Amino acid sequence: MKEKSRPRLKIEKLVYGGLGLGRLDGRTVLVRYSAPGETVEVELLKEKRDYAEGVALKVIEPSPFRREPPCPYYGVCGGCQLQHLAYHAQLDAKRAILLESLERIGKLKDVPYEGEIPSGQEFHYRVRVQFKVKDGKIGFYRWDSKEVVDVNECLLAHRKINELIPALREINKALKDLQEVHVTYSPSADETVLKLYTITYADEKLVESLKESVLPKSVVGVGNYGSVGASSVKRYFIGREHVFMDVGRWRYRVSADSFFQVNYTLWEPFLEEVLRKGGSYRKGLDLHCGVGFFTIPLSVQGNFIEGADANPSAIKDAEYNAKLNRRDNVVFTEATAYRYLKRRAGEIFDLVVLDPPRTGLLKEEVELLIKNKPARIVYISCNPTTLARDLKMLVRGGYELKGVKLIDNFPQTFHVESVSLLELSV
Ligand SMILES: C[S@@+](CC[C@H](N)C(=O)[O-])C[C@H]1O[C@@H](n2cnc3c(N)ncnc32)[C@H](O)[C@@H]1O
Repeated sequence: MKEKSRPRLKIEKLVYGGLGLGRLDGRTVLVRYSAPGETVEVELLKEKRDYAEGVALKVIEPSPFRREPPCPYYGVCGGCQLQHLAYHAQLDAKRAILLESLERIGKLKDVPYEGEIPSGQEFHYRVRVQFKVKDGKIGFYRWDSKEVVDVNECLLAHRKINELIPALREINKALKDLQEVHVTYSPSADETVLKLYTITYADEKLVESLKESVLPKSVVGVGNYGSVGASSVKRYFIGREHVFMDVGRWRYRVSADSFFQVNYTLWEPFLEEVLRKGGSYRKGLDLHCGVGFFTIPLSVQGNFIEGADANPSAIKDAEYNAKLNRRDNVVFTEATAYRYLKRRAGEIFDLVVLDPPRTGLLKEEVELLIKNKPARIVYISCNPTTLARDLKMLVRGGYELKGVKLIDNFPQTFHVESVSLLELSV
């Protein structure tokens, strides 16, 4: 059998996705589990004409910041990409990736970078986790396939979520065709809601008895869901469909079907950063408002604010949360950002907050924003490449980038969250 080639490469830097970039015969090679500055022996897994992908098999000259990954599943499980790096080196790499994206893709010069807010904890920071279930295993996909890595603990998940794993194994035995379990945990209320995804309808009586017999009392609700293509269909829910999360002086109802920021150790500093950049305003618009995480606290700083989100569950929560927090200068509407911007095209907003999914904004949404001309835009992003693409358009449309802060919501992973402020140039 022919030996696979194992070239040695020097890693220049990390790129978005968490891979190290090296070069071989003029080709770019992206190497998993490597670190900037090190020389590694690489197994090439995918070879194209102008680039290749591989995995570091042996470290010849290690980075001084390389460490023994604390998780026993690291290297197999696809959930984390940076555990082999000391936390400060993860932050350095994310800063470099964010700035390089803004400069290279966004064509932005002299980026007003304001530093980073590190996570309050390196581990056990996640309060929302999606477990995959297959062949009796509960965990996460391998990095190289859709096989499930069976885990007894995830170092990113809140400890209370890990404590549920033995009960989830019992549920898996009883239900047979369980595919996924989505967990939302509130650390302030110590309560959890679960969504069980099964191929066929799960017997309601059976799920109810499992809830009573194997799950702790802190699990206040359990739903059965099926998936159709990329979307999910709720079949029924037993008990409460939501938990309450406290963030400083604010309380939020968060339904199992709504989004909520995953890193609870950064909720307050993250919110503070958006409030600082939002400043005071007459009329504000939060275009991806979720359950009102930013909208409701922002309502204190302005005359009136509108929130829109494409998810009906999030909007129901947001409306409830406005009342819960006694804010009557905020209204919420279920709509996509595009539809909402079109519908409100003639309105004058002086502050617009954006927090789109990883795909960023649609070109048409940016065009409508530029026509609307809000004095200030706060753009919260979890993907530096789509952020850079959108900022390029906004800057060409008359905005000036005034500040960018990195919020490390996702330690051990390649994800880069940031908050940017743009002001309309006069
Ligand atoms: C990253 S979350 C942010 C939510 C909220 N800002 C928060 O911090 O909790 C993105 C939100 O955008 C919503 N969303 C996705 N696509 C959308 C679209 N085209 N228009 C409006 N909202 C959308 C999702 O439902 C989700 O609530």
